[in-house]
Amino acid sequence: MTQKKHSSFGMIGLGTMGSNLLLNIVDHGFTCSGYDISPDKVVALNELNPEAIHGFTDMKEFAQSLKTPRVVMMLVPAGTIVDSVIEELLLVLEPGDIIIDGGNSHFVDTDRRFKYLEEKNYHFIGMGVSGGEEGARRGPSMMPGGDKEAYEVVKPILTQIAAHVNGDPTVAYMGERSAGHFVKMVHNGIEYALMQLISETYEVLKNGLGLSDNEIHDVYKKWNEGRLQSYLLEITRDIFAFKENGTDHLLLNDIKDEAKAKGTGKWTSQAAMDLTLPIPVIDIAVSMRDLSKYKELRTQAADLYPNKKAEPYSDDNEKYIASMEEAFYFAMVSAYAQGMHLLHRANVDYKYNLDLGVIAKIWRGGCIIRSAFLEDIYAAYQKNPELEHLFMDDSIHENIVRSLAGIRTFVSDVARHGIAAPAFSVSLGYFDNFRAAEMPANLIQAQRDFFGSHTYELKGKKGVFHTDWEGDPKVNTDADS
Ligand code: 6PG
Repeated sequence: MTQKKHSSFGMIGLGTMGSNLLLNIVDHGFTCSGYDISPDKVVALNELNPEAIHGFTDMKEFAQSLKTPRVVMMLVPAGTIVDSVIEELLLVLEPGDIIIDGGNSHFVDTDRRFKYLEEKNYHFIGMGVSGGEEGARRGPSMMPGGDKEAYEVVKPILTQIAAHVNGDPTVAYMGERSAGHFVKMVHNGIEYALMQLISETYEVLKNGLGLSDNEIHDVYKKWNEGRLQSYLLEITRDIFAFKENGTDHLLLNDIKDEAKAKGTGKWTSQAAMDLTLPIPVIDIAVSMRDLSKYKELRTQAADLYPNKKAEPYSDDNEKYIASMEEAFYFAMVSAYAQGMHLLHRANVDYKYNLDLGVIAKIWRGGCIIRSAFLEDIYAAYQKNPELEHLFMDDSIHENIVRSLAGIRTFVSDVARHGIAAPAFSVSLGYFDNFRAAEMPANLIQAQRDFFGSHTYELKGKKGVFHTDWEGDPKVNTDADS
């Protein structure tokens, strides 16, 4: 096949995401080229729209098919493959061309690649893309960061292919260097937390209240019609209605209870620990996926520590489910708040130049964590762009206060009944410490100084001090003198 004119956009990696994104771009009037090492994928791509999309297995021909400056996006698995593709691209592209990494790359790698390519005069954009296969086809949420000048070149394409909320595209320049991938990583951390919270409600609805699959479906359906409306609840509702052809039970009930992960949740926790910024609801979500993998050990422990059936969970399920809705609202706010707090902190430490209001704005559509609550987050940053923590926003504060009864009931009931809902428990513990002007951390400081002479600070006094705790009790000495 001969190509009549040069393409506006090139894609490396023609899996479902890559091909869908190309189809989306073509829908908006642009011509595209695609490259993959697999000839089958290239043949399949060429069949999609032979007029507007051209597939290649030869990298040089692929590069020659593109308009200059060339815009090439990689959608390949994160890690060393990205580095190899970059090296291959450097053989066929020219300085001034634009390389976009649209995968879930670790932000530290993105920083390194940005520097490497900048030194060679290539433009590099690290871009988070969210929304899965359907999002790629119909409108994803995109989080580009890095080279601002290059973003301006690709902006007309990205804004057209993004999802739109109230007329606004769900794409915007995030900030310097690895900002785009950092924001996407935190998006995924929140995604992990929300998924964990939903799965804990499933556990209580099923094993606490004893609801049938149909009844659980109806609960999620109802919740999704109110302030909890979100993409993740929507798909959960549908999972509770999905039966494979020829079966009369949910596919869900055949699925093994071992959750997998590709790493972005773990990276979020690691990044937060490096920045000493607490995100415990995200941390516990990562840990519980990990615990789920120890199936054999869990099965043995289940025999060793059987959970005796306690008294009926509730004598008024409807009322109880209404209070669970409050608990879910509370914990969901906590998950988003922790993620946004991490972004706030990363912005200070890594000087990304992020705008948290813009991030909330582009997460309102297209991405996996889109939800009605993101409108409230967006509104909070509209009111105060410097807002450090969502709990401090007036209207979120009001809603949090109203949900407290629900979360306290939920957490105490799961504890009494031996049902695991660690993300809910942690969301409440985090809150109770967050709103504590006095934490018992003074005791920790005293212990550290006692056993390791690690010193402590005193209220109302400058400097650091040390005490010989087993010696003369009246002395504490200035550790600096
Ligand atoms: C998205 C998703 C996506 C991610 C999957 C799988 O925003 O579209 O976050 O990028 O790859 O959710 O993640 P795990 O395999 O780690 O669950």
